Amino acid sequence: MQKTHNQKQHYQKLKPENPWILGLAVVGLIGGGLLIASLFINYGSSQLFCGGAWGRTTFDGNATTTTLQLEAILHYATSRVVPQQSISEITVSYDVLRSLGPSNFLVFGLGHDSLMWAAINPGGRTLFLEEDPKWVQTVLKDAPALRVDTVHYRTQLSQADELLQHYGTEPDCSAKNSFLRGNDKCRLALNMLSDEVYDTEWDMIMVDAPRGYFAEAPGRMAAIYSAAVMARNRKKSGVTHVFVHDVDRRVEKKYAEAFLCKKHLVKAVGRLWHFEIPPPANMSCDFC
Ligand SMILES: C[S@@+](CC[C@H](N)C(=O)[O-])C[C@H]1O[C@@H](n2cnc3c(N)ncnc32)[C@H](O)[C@@H]1O
Repeated sequence: MQKTHNQKQHYQKLKPENPWILGLAVVGLIGGGLLIASLFINYGSSQLFCGGAWGRTTFDGNATTTTLQLEAILHYATSRVVPQQSISEITVSYDVLRSLGPSNFLVFGLGHDSLMWAAINPGGRTLFLEEDPKWVQTVLKDAPALRVDTVHYRTQLSQADELLQHYGTEPDCSAKNSFLRGNDKCRLALNMLSDEVYDTEWDMIMVDAPRGYFAEAPGRMAAIYSAAVMARNRKKSGVTHVFVHDVDRRVEKKYAEAFLCKKHLVKAVGRLWHFEIPPPANMSCDFC
C-alpha cells in the first residue's frame, strides 16, 4: 500500500502539472539528438564505427560509399544480367582488394560488373575508362555514383601486329623512358587521359576493355601497354596488381606477355591473368 502511494507521488511529479521537469526533458532530448546528429555529420559514421565500409561520406572521390553499396545491392538483386567474368575470375581481384584495403583501382571499361568493382572497394578510389559515350550515359542512368572518364582510343585491333613493330622502332615507346602524358609519338601510349589518371598511383588496374573482338574495335593493345607503364612508374611502396581478361585471345595474350611479362604472372584463372609488377630493377629498354 505504501509502495503504491509512493509510486503515485512519483508519477505526479512527472505530470504536466510540473512543467519545469517536462520542459527540461524536452530540451534534453532535443539537445541529445542534435549532438548525435552533428557527430554523424561532422565525422562520418565510418569513424564512429572504425570502418570505411559503412561510412556516410568516406573520402575518396567516389560518391558516398553507402550509396554505391546500396545501389549495388539493389541492382544485382533485381537484375538478370550478370558480369561476364566468372566467380572464380572475380575472386582473384576480390581477394587482392580485401588484402589491400581501400585502393586506387583503375578499371578499363564499363560493364555489368562496374557497380560490383566500385562497391567492393569501399573508401577507395575506383575510376572507369570507357570508350563509348552512349554506353557511359546508359550505365550512369542506373548507377550515377560511378566515376567514369570517356577515352577516345587512337588504335584499331587490325593494327595490333604493326603496333608491335612500331614499339620496337619508336624510342618514345621504349621501357627506358616510358611515359604517357604528352607522348604523341608512341601510338601505344594513352596520351589522352585525365590528369587524375596520370597523377594517381594505381594499386590495381583491370584491363577488361576496350572491345577487341572485331577489326575496327580499339583493341586492348594500348590499355595493356599503358597499364605496364603506369605500374613501372609507381613511386609508392609495393607492387601494382594488373589483371587482364580474355587472355584466350591472341592479341591480349601477346601484349600481356610482351609488356606485363610472364615472370610477373602470379595467377591464371579461367581467362584472367593476374600480374604483380614491381618497380623496375634497372632501366633497360625492354619491359620484361
Ligand atoms: C568486353 S566488355 C567487358 C564487359 C564487362 N566485363 C562485364 O562483365 O560486363 C567491355 C566493353 O564492351 C562494351 N559493352 C559492354 N557491355 C555493353 C552493352 N551492354 N552495350 C554496349 N556496349 C557494351 C563497352 O564499351 C565496354 O567497355
